[in-house]
Amino acid sequence: MSDLEFFLILLPPILALFFIFNVFKTKQNTLNLPPGNMGWPFIGETIGYLKPYSATTIGEFMEQHISRFGKIYKSHLFGEPTIVSADAGLNKFILQNEGRLFECSYPRSIGGILGKWSMLVLVGDMHRDMRIISLNFLSNARLKTHLLPEVEKQTLLVLSSWEDNSAFCAQDEAKKFTFNLMAKHIMSLDPGKQETEELKKEYITFMKGVVSPPLNLPGTPYRKALKSRSTILKFIEEKMEERMEKMGEKTENLEDDDLLGWALKHSNLSKEQILDLVLSLLFAGHETSSVSIALAIYFLQDSPNVVQQLTEEHMEIVKAKKQAGETELNWDDYKKMEFTQCVINETLRFGNVVRFLHRKAIKDVHYKGYDIPNGWKVLPVVSAVHLDPSHFDQPYHFDPWRWQNIRGSSSSCSSSWLATSTMSNNTFMPFGGGPRLCAGSELAKLEMAVFIHHLVLNFSWKLADTDQALAFPFVDFPKGLPIRVHRHTFII
Ligand code: HEM
Ligand SMILES: *[C@@H]1O[C@H](CO)[C@@H](O)[C@H](O)[C@H]1NC(C)=O
Ligand SMILES: *[C@@H]1O[C@H](CO)[C@@H](O)[C@H](O)[C@H]1NC(C)=O
Ligand SMILES: *[C@@H]1O[C@H](CO)[C@@H](O)[C@H](O)[C@H]1NC(C)=O
Ligand SMILES: *[C@@H]1O[C@H](CO)[C@@H](O)[C@H](O)[C@H]1NC(C)=O
Repeated sequence: MSDLEFFLILLPPILALFFIFNVFKTKQNTLNLPPGNMGWPFIGETIGYLKPYSATTIGEFMEQHISRFGKIYKSHLFGEPTIVSADAGLNKFILQNEGRLFECSYPRSIGGILGKWSMLVLVGDMHRDMRIISLNFLSNARLKTHLLPEVEKQTLLVLSSWEDNSAFCAQDEAKKFTFNLMAKHIMSLDPGKQETEELKKEYITFMKGVVSPPLNLPGTPYRKALKSRSTILKFIEEKMEERMEKMGEKTENLEDDDLLGWALKHSNLSKEQILDLVLSLLFAGHETSSVSIALAIYFLQDSPNVVQQLTEEHMEIVKAKKQAGETELNWDDYKKMEFTQCVINETLRFGNVVRFLHRKAIKDVHYKGYDIPNGWKVLPVVSAVHLDPSHFDQPYHFDPWRWQNIRGSSSSCSSSWLATSTMSNNTFMPFGGGPRLCAGSELAKLEMAVFIHHLVLNFSWKLADTDQALAFPFVDFPKGLPIRVHRHTFII
């Protein structure tokens, strides 16, 4: 073969490649993508993005990228080209346009472990149906009649086991509380019973897998979690069959006080769907709220003046109840916990239990001059907005009173104006937003408030060992938040 022949054979593919490359380049060029760095092939910048950092900061990765590229930048994360947003306006835009321009899109491993019918991965009509069931079940009416008494009961159960001058891991105690509550509310399981304890053990293995790399190899946490998933599902299935047998006897009296009964009676979901719904509610409702309670315990031990004001608020409530001859907390008492609500908001703002959400663009989107191509992943980083000094004055300061300024419109200082405009612009989004706003946000706040009520009335506490909240990016205390507690009694 002569050189010329060789050249002529190679010419067409070279021209074709050249042509394709140019078309690709011009397409990319006509798009105004946000600035950023795509990192290494395939892994992109994922390792840097997932590197653990202090939960009360935005982390080195975010800090460096924002200062280099601004609050909206492109990257390559979780195996896909991605737009990362620390911009309050874009975050809101993304969440409000769920189903129209963007769609929930968690990594496939999450679906593998939570199930294909899990609310976290469903989109469209199926998501809506599941959501309606969850919302019905977590409605305000149910909170008042069913959940408040149960929340208080489970709080007292955990707190009454704390002995004076003892030290233990507060995070484990918070987990015990929220797990018992969810197990009771979802399947009527009683705390301390053998089946509940066994389920809890499986669930811990399961959780470790949800938050670990999705490597389905022998011995990995992910593999073990998949095994736990089937054990848990078998357990729930047995409960379901028990229920259905009862239902056969007399449909009228079918117990619908828990989610399982309710879903069987009021929905026509398949067995498989109910199983995934139960599992995903257990997951969504247990982990997040226990971490929030641990964060509150952690922030409060460092803020004696906040504890002081909390104590005053809760003493007032107890005093009034004593005069009325009541013991159990009711809805009116809960509504009186105003400063407590500020503490809860501040805990969620500063601690950022859920740091970012997973979405993808389902159309070509234009936002403030930038293009977000169809199919790209989009990560609204809500934590970065919560710690942004242009939205929250002195963001690295645990200051529950900042939320009081927002409510009292009497004060006319500029900081209160800023705060007011901040709220109306939805910059505070600990529970996400739009059509996928957390279904359990009211329950989560109720749990935190009731727990704080009994905590400040009966105990003082401090760290028994240094520990801090880290973002992995799921928030966790590496040592489990060891605290030493002292019981005290107030003369009321
Ligand atoms: C402080 C505690 C909590 C935090 C910070 C939190 C946060 C969130 C966030 C950010 C989302 C949105 C996820 C997304 O858009 O991709 C969400 C969804 C959800 N949460 Fe929570 N959550 C908490 C407690 C709870 C509790 C106690 C429950 C009760 C079972 C619950 C049930 C749900 C459900 C069912 C969804 C899915 C909603 C949907 O897709 O329509 N959460 N949560
Ligand atoms: C808190 O203290 C009150 C009054 O001393 C007591 O009646 C109550 O049982 C205590 N609660 C817990 C959870 O220890
Ligand atoms: C239940 O069944 C009806 C008709 O049989 C159907 O229209 C509806 O979409 C179903 N609902 C759910 C939640 O599957
Ligand atoms: C706490 O934040 C929510 C928004 O999630 C807001 O509606 C509420 O008014 C805030 N509470 C207080 C006490 O500021
Ligand atoms: C909030 O929105 C208003 C318009 O609705 C705008 O003028 C203001 O600058 C926004 N504030 C912040 C903090 O984004």
